[in-house]
Amino acid sequence: METYTGIPEELKHSVLEKIKPTETEKKKLLEIQEELASEVKTAADKLGVSAVLVKMVGSAARGTWLSGTHDIDVFISFPEETPRKELETLGMAIAREVAKLAEHAEDRHAEHPYLNIVFKGFDVDLVPCFRVASASHIKSAVDRTPFHNDFVKARINGCEDEVLLLKQFMRGCGVYGSELRTQGFSGYLTELLIIHYGSFENTVRAASSWKPGEKIDIMQHSEIEHREPLVIVDPTDPKRNVAAALSLDNFCMFIDCCREFLKSPELKFFFPAPFLPLEDREIIERLESRKSTQLAVLFKTPDVVEDVLYPQLYKMEQAVAAFLKEYEFSVIKTGVWSGKNETVIMLELISGALPNVKKHIGPPVWVKEHAEKFKEKYEGAEDVFGGYIENGKYVFEIRRKYPIAKGLLENQLINCSLGKHIHQSVNEGFEIIENAEICSLKDLDFRIFLRKWL
Ligand code: CTP
Ligand code: MG
Repeated sequence: METYTGIPEELKHSVLEKIKPTETEKKKLLEIQEELASEVKTAADKLGVSAVLVKMVGSAARGTWLSGTHDIDVFISFPEETPRKELETLGMAIAREVAKLAEHAEDRHAEHPYLNIVFKGFDVDLVPCFRVASASHIKSAVDRTPFHNDFVKARINGCEDEVLLLKQFMRGCGVYGSELRTQGFSGYLTELLIIHYGSFENTVRAASSWKPGEKIDIMQHSEIEHREPLVIVDPTDPKRNVAAALSLDNFCMFIDCCREFLKSPELKFFFPAPFLPLEDREIIERLESRKSTQLAVLFKTPDVVEDVLYPQLYKMEQAVAAFLKEYEFSVIKTGVWSGKNETVIMLELISGALPNVKKHIGPPVWVKEHAEKFKEKYEGAEDVFGGYIENGKYVFEIRRKYPIAKGLLENQLINCSLGKHIHQSVNEGFEIIENAEICSLKDLDFRIFLRKWL
């Protein structure tokens, strides 16, 4: 019998000590939020827009933000019947007026434009949205957020610490964040898990027995089937899965972390020791001990936002591996690293070199017409080593066009199916680096990636 002793209170305390915003920090954030709200109202008045309301949303407004993170989401909401064009121009005009007081401002684009500013050291999104009747009648994806806020605020009271613990635990496991780069759990998702299971500990215990197909429907109002591994029906929208962005591997990574954590609940799950950059000597040692072939496809990082870049990188990773397999190379694993200037697709192969001879299997001998044509084409031809019959079929041993994986990629990479921005960048130039040559890549973040890779 397994005896269950629970997660030590002291452990939770020492985690919270590090991640829970202090009273001073809370007061400061509240002040800034109030200041921003009043600046938005002033700007709206100045521009003669009377019908807008200001709404604070996101973890800052719910008391579920991790200490040290400084993002504030300010929604500028317009009446539902406002024409989209008008919402965009007036919303952005108000945002730009507020931005005059900011240290820095940057136009961003989701489904419609918004402004990201740095205001007194805080990272603030000023987002115009429609004030719709319910989250199932949204006109733009961001219109849901105020409903999330109302739902969570009404239920999270007293459980904020549990949300913080879960967020930090997920950070430690590397599965926190719903951006397309991470494909993990969003902040709203952690809040819903706490609302559903009641506590951090209950969530971790439940998750350690999750299977793909796990479904939580707090409002019991689901309207459609979902295929994702985890389905958390949005309490504010019966058609939406809040966990839609979560990948199968991150779902499983979380299950694995929960199991390990329950076996030995320790601080390191929340704050794992950072990986150190791998040094040249270590790279060489590991390569010699693995005896596989490492290939790095190197090109200039396209100048696009991560939500556009990463889906293309993950697609490229798959495409290049499939391409190598087509040419009979065995791929052990693939990976992606992308820095400010350079991007690398890593491939580990059983071997980067194949023999010159390639077995080419033809039709059965009794399929007369085809078989005769096949034999005629290859018998005695240049670059044919020999031929025989095996299992009733003609077989010719021919010369392999690409016996070296590096050469294959140098010649053919551009013909792999690549996303628009990557295609552009690769077209301008790329390099294939092999084995110990990866020591020429000195970027420290890449070296950290390599420690996990090798
Ligand atoms: N949101 C969402 N789905 C996402 C990302 C965001 O519904 N994939 C909505 C949520 O209502 C969320 C708000 O946008 O609360 C703000 O997003 P974000 O700052 O990314 O998340 P937070 O909940 O604020 O969590 P964090 O503590 O990580 O900032
Ligand atoms: Mg936030």
